Amino acid sequence: MFSETENHQANGLSGGANEASGTSDSLYVTAAEEAVDELEHVSGVHPGYRRAHARGFCCRASFLPSGKAAPYTTAAHLQEREIKAIVRFSGSSTDPALADLLSPAKGMAVQFLLPEGGHTNMVGVTVPVFFARTPESFMEMLTTLNRTKAGKMPKAEALRRFARHFGESRQSLLALKRLKPPASYATNLYYCIHVYILVDSEGRRRPVKFEWIPDLGVQTLSIHDAAAMPDDYLERELELRMLAHPPSFKLNIVFGEEGDPTNDPTKRWPSDRKRIDAGRLVLLEPIAEPPGLIMDPTAVPDGIALSDDPILNFRRDTYAESLKRRSGGH
Ligand code: HEM
Repeated sequence: MFSETENHQANGLSGGANEASGTSDSLYVTAAEEAVDELEHVSGVHPGYRRAHARGFCCRASFLPSGKAAPYTTAAHLQEREIKAIVRFSGSSTDPALADLLSPAKGMAVQFLLPEGGHTNMVGVTVPVFFARTPESFMEMLTTLNRTKAGKMPKAEALRRFARHFGESRQSLLALKRLKPPASYATNLYYCIHVYILVDSEGRRRPVKFEWIPDLGVQTLSIHDAAAMPDDYLERELELRMLAHPPSFKLNIVFGEEGDPTNDPTKRWPSDRKRIDAGRLVLLEPIAEPPGLIMDPTAVPDGIALSDDPILNFRRDTYAESLKRRSGGH
């Protein structure tokens, strides 16, 4: 079992993101501090809140693995033993006061509390791809947006810059446009987007993606009905739903094949890839957010390794920077 620091060392990521290996030259030149500064420019600083996915709602949960993933990974939470978990649902906005309806993509972050101590996280959102392929693209798009909004960049220059990234952002923008307001946090399909590597007991490595499928099916509201709801309707709805009957999700593991990209979060894999049902997550009851909770998607245990996706590897330091600022009361 690794602590988060040990994990990073085990994955060859011993220090800052600049030291990550196996990726192309220009990656990781962007500092996590700059990324978090830029996120703060989107809607200002909201002291004590996450710098993205600011408003959220935590639950206590339980994960019962099916055992079907055990031949592919030694990861403790994917064997057969029931695992305690903490789940945080969120709206994607940097502004904690924004109504649920106005932050279209939703997040579901799951922290598995491993039997021998330590934890690992799976962080999903309701779109299958990200809008940026590298931290540099992410930064250029965000700074362009912020500078244009602040009147510091002419619209023509902004358009020219966005056009440079249109190819990589297209699928994500289309997916965002197709999103309808959810009926419940428990009725969304959540994609963990990045590729991870399952490692079996013989050391064999297989690239995979993770998806959470709601057992209630995907259920949405019309814009008209959602507009009539209170700003925080998703939190209220989930609280009531858990009292009545604990909702659940199936964990799908999707296996990549030869040629499927492992380093590009803007690309989907073909839909016919093999999937296994790795277990069921049941949401039990609302809880107050545990102090210092951080859903770092690079915190992986023995039996799972990080892929060469530059965005995935960049997230570790930005999440730590956000935690540092929000826990310092900023
Ligand atoms: C350059 C890429 C990204 C940056 C800079 C970034 C930044 C951040 C930051 C600063 C936070 C707050 C962390 C904290 O205070 O604990 C956050 C939270 C979150 N991000 Fe990202 N993010 C990136 C990519 C992604 C991607 C690809 C996904 C999709 C899976 C994602 C999903 C989430 C979710 C669901 C949360 C809320 C986690 C929680 O509930 O604690 N992010 N992000």
